[in-house]
Amino acid sequence: MAVVISKRRGLFFLPILLSFTSSLFLFLFMISSTSKPDILQPGLTRIHVINPLPEFSTTSSPVMPKQSIVVNRSLVLDLQTTQLPSRTTQLASTAETKVETNDDDDIFHDRSFFTKDYKQMNKTLKIYAYPHDKDDPFANVLLPVNSEPTGNYASESYFKNALFESHFLTNDPSEADLFYLPFSIASLRHDKRVGVGGIKDFVANYVDEISRSYPFWNRSGGADHFYVACHSVGRTAMEKAVGVKLNAIQVVCSSSYFLSGYVAHKDASIPQIWPRKGVPPTRSPSQRKTLAFYAGAMNSRVRKDLVKTWENDSDISVHYSRLQTPYSEALLGSKFCIHAKGFEVNTARIGDALYYGCVPVVLADYYDLPYSDVINWNRFSVVLSAADIPMLKKILEGIVNRGEYLRMQRNVMRVQKHFQWHDLPLDFDAFYMVMYELWLRRSHVRIT
Ligand SMILES: *[C@@H]1O[C@H](CO)[C@@H](O)[C@H](O)[C@H]1NC(C)=O
Ligand SMILES: *[C@@H]1O[C@H](CO)[C@@H](O)[C@H](O)[C@H]1NC(C)=O
Ligand SMILES: *[C@@H]1O[C@H](CO)[C@@H](O)[C@H](O)[C@H]1NC(C)=O
Ligand SMILES: *[C@@H]1O[C@H](CO)[C@@H](O)[C@H](O)[C@H]1NC(C)=O
Repeated sequence: MAVVISKRRGLFFLPILLSFTSSLFLFLFMISSTSKPDILQPGLTRIHVINPLPEFSTTSSPVMPKQSIVVNRSLVLDLQTTQLPSRTTQLASTAETKVETNDDDDIFHDRSFFTKDYKQMNKTLKIYAYPHDKDDPFANVLLPVNSEPTGNYASESYFKNALFESHFLTNDPSEADLFYLPFSIASLRHDKRVGVGGIKDFVANYVDEISRSYPFWNRSGGADHFYVACHSVGRTAMEKAVGVKLNAIQVVCSSSYFLSGYVAHKDASIPQIWPRKGVPPTRSPSQRKTLAFYAGAMNSRVRKDLVKTWENDSDISVHYSRLQTPYSEALLGSKFCIHAKGFEVNTARIGDALYYGCVPVVLADYYDLPYSDVINWNRFSVVLSAADIPMLKKILEGIVNRGEYLRMQRNVMRVQKHFQWHDLPLDFDAFYMVMYELWLRRSHVRIT
């Protein structure tokens, strides 16, 4: 839900602004480094309102037609530094003390807030999925698949299967917080009637159809709708359904700040995870003899740079052709496992690294990392810029020599569960984490 406030009405809105500054500032803080304010006057900034505090959810709120607030940046920054004890600084200070007192809190920005809010989400979040018959000609695309999800893009089917089995689903659209567009990009890709070339039209027709047959799309312009896609063709699939791209929540694997089709904070990142069964194998840090490991095709500049720079190094092991040892052994035997951007910012390598207890090194500029608004990636991974490749060894050795590696590796073991899918979802696993990301993006102002 959203608001556009003109310069003058911004002052009128001040009391409300103050009442939810806490969340506002959190997002301001995050956005200040990433937003590219388009067509705004200098000094004004646009804030995507994702999760206003409950005070904001009054039924008397005006109907809000757009997805963002425009405020005078100097006014807000001024308030932030002088008049109010902002939530951001409170969070920062409590986080510091917690780090020393409770290791379990280490991976979260604010664990106690998350735990409480997660419980609330688990109790109250309701999703309405547009219903389709088993004999619908496109049942293969619109309904969950019966078979076990496989391959690189399994996250998409895992999510759908889990959602349809979950207590979040409701048959009563009037109690729904969010509406699920159940088309599967991966299935459309493989469907001969559609294929890669036909996905845009399929999606446009689908949205047209539901907006005619149901009242829900039109009343919010799709702002309380979402879809989930892991394959990168998903990023162009919305080009003929502009409402989906601009308003709906896109939960995608290829979540890059650099792509015009992805709006950070409105959209959300879902981890790409290769399906693996069972309890992850463990290997102690001291038995991880290789400093860093990477393997992958040379399909991007980052990967070429990486391989060219480190191909003869004895501590950093980089491969662009077939491995001599099993992949799992390489991941178990390394302290750090490198994820380097390929065609897209995302690959399954981060999930692979975490599964095998290896600290991920992320070389993928502009990657909006999964759950980054909830967990602190700096505590269990090394996020670098592609420009850091020549310094890679120095940086990683520094982490080991300063004694920071052990703690990072312990944290890897703690985040593992958030990067795993299950046939029957388990609390805090990838399914529940994605549900929580949706919960953060739900609208508080319900239009009836
Ligand atoms: C923003 O607020 C400052 C301080 O009140 C004011 O000087 C400036 O003109 C405002 N900028 C815009 C673009 O409204
Ligand atoms: C979430 O809800 C499920 C289903 O009602 C329940 O089994 C689970 O214990 C809940 N988890 C938490 C943390 O509240
Ligand atoms: C929603 O809006 C579209 C375009 O204006 C219109 O064709 C459609 O009939 C509307 N749907 C409903 C349910 O009124
Ligand atoms: C690595 O070794 C090969 C073969 O000796 C050589 O051609 C290449 O230039 C070396 N690469 C670097 C970065 O030193």
